[in-house]
This record gives sequence, structure tokens and C-alpha cells, in this order.
Amino acid sequence: MNSVKITPDIIRSMKTDRRGVPSLTVYDYPMTRLFDEAGIPLLLVGDSLGMVVLGYPDTTHVTMEEMEHHVRAAARAKPLGLLAADLPYRAYEDEAQAVANAKRLRIAGAEAVKAEGGRAIINQVRAIIAAGIPYIGHLGMLPQNVVVEGKYRIKGKIEEERAALLADAKALADAGAFAIVLELITPAVAVEISRSIPIPTLGIGSGPDCDGQILVTHDLVGAFPWFTPRFIKPRLATGAQTRETARQWALEVEQHTLKMP
Ligand code: KIV
Repeated sequence: MNSVKITPDIIRSMKTDRRGVPSLTVYDYPMTRLFDEAGIPLLLVGDSLGMVVLGYPDTTHVTMEEMEHHVRAAARAKPLGLLAADLPYRAYEDEAQAVANAKRLRIAGAEAVKAEGGRAIINQVRAIIAAGIPYIGHLGMLPQNVVVEGKYRIKGKIEEERAALLADAKALADAGAFAIVLELITPAVAVEISRSIPIPTLGIGSGPDCDGQILVTHDLVGAFPWFTPRFIKPRLATGAQTRETARQWALEVEQHTLKMP
């Protein structure tokens, strides 16, 4: 259980204190409340919402209204953990739009926002931070680019990518981001980035040696059994167990063998 309200400064200081930063995605009230009770310091209403909750094929279909709806639900849990939220696809095309949409997520209850990209969106990042909204960067494989790139591909294998990732991470840290998600980056480059900036990196599919780790919760607990990323072994079989529980209960109802507690 978190004993104090977690702030961006506390997340940042975890790197200095050499404490790993665990972070999980949340999409609703019970999940947020449970993970807050578990002491998870950074909770993200990710736009992975699109796939694991809303049934879209990728994150590019998620709207601002959908993000606001789920941020409001998560915020009702009043977590001590810091509640962050993703700016969805095409919600930060220029500075004015980025700030307006970051403010909408703030009003819905998010205490920080995240968007995908480095130097390509640095003006938007600076504008969000100048508006007083704490910011988390996201580099590497950028899910909102999947339609353009055609598939989810590991980044950092070639020198050009490695150099670009290091420059992007520096730009985000210099702009005032308080953490950066590193998604599907080769572990060696993820370590290099982590050592080169003063703010925590949160790895996902980028090896064990980032400053912290972030996961899509459904992958951790097996709640979306139709797809599991290769880099994670679910620790529960929530989906399979839920399906089996429903099957058993339905059978008992059909056969009139149901016992009341
Ligand atoms: O949308 C999301 O869940 C994310 C995590 C994968 C970091 O951005």
C-alpha cells in the first residue's frame, strides 16, 4: 500500500534512490483500487484500452472521449499512486491541440499525460509541460504508428535507430519529462538510454535492466488470452479461469444442481 500521495518528483527520485519503478495499466475503478492497494506507484490509463477493453484491432481507434471515460472511472478510486493517461492517436498534432487535450485528461482525473515520440513532438511536449501538466515520454516501438509501419518491430538494432533513440530520450528529459517508457527496444540500447538520462526509464519488452517496468495488466494476469506478447509469461490465467467458472455455473443452472451459499 502506498502511504503517501505519489508525485512526479517521487517517481523521479526513485531513480536516484535506485528503487525500481513498477507501473501497470488500469482502465477502471476496481483495477485502479486493487493496484493502489498493492502499492503500485504509477498507474497508467493506457490507450492499450483500445485492444484489451474495447476490442479494437490497435490503438489508433481510441478517441479522446473514450480515454476521458476510462480516466474518470480510474480516478474515482482516488489512488495514492500517480494516475497518468495516454493522449490518444492524433490528439497531439500541434501544440494547441496537445495542451487542450492534455487539459481534458487532467479534468477527467489524470495527474500526468503520456504521448508517443521524441524530437518529432518536442514542441507539443514543451507546451504541455509549460501548461503545468506532468509528462511521461514514450520511445521505441510506438503502437500508434502501427498502421504506418505495418507491424510491431523491435527498435535499436541498427546504429541509426540507436543514435535517434538516445537523442530522443535526451530531448524528452531536457524538456522536463519525469519518466520515459521504452517499448520493444533492444536491451543493450535500453540500458544505454537508462544510463544517459537522469529520469527513470520504464521498460516494456526492453529487457530487465531499465529503471522500472511497465506492463499492460491484461498481459500480466492473462486476462486477454487471445494474444500475449512474446516477452511476457502471464502470472495468472484470469481469462481461462473466468471462462471455466462461467461454464461450470451455467451447467449447474441448466441441470438444477446449483447450491446457494
Ligand atoms: O497504452 C499502453 O498501455 C501503453 C503501455 C504499453 C506503456 O502505452
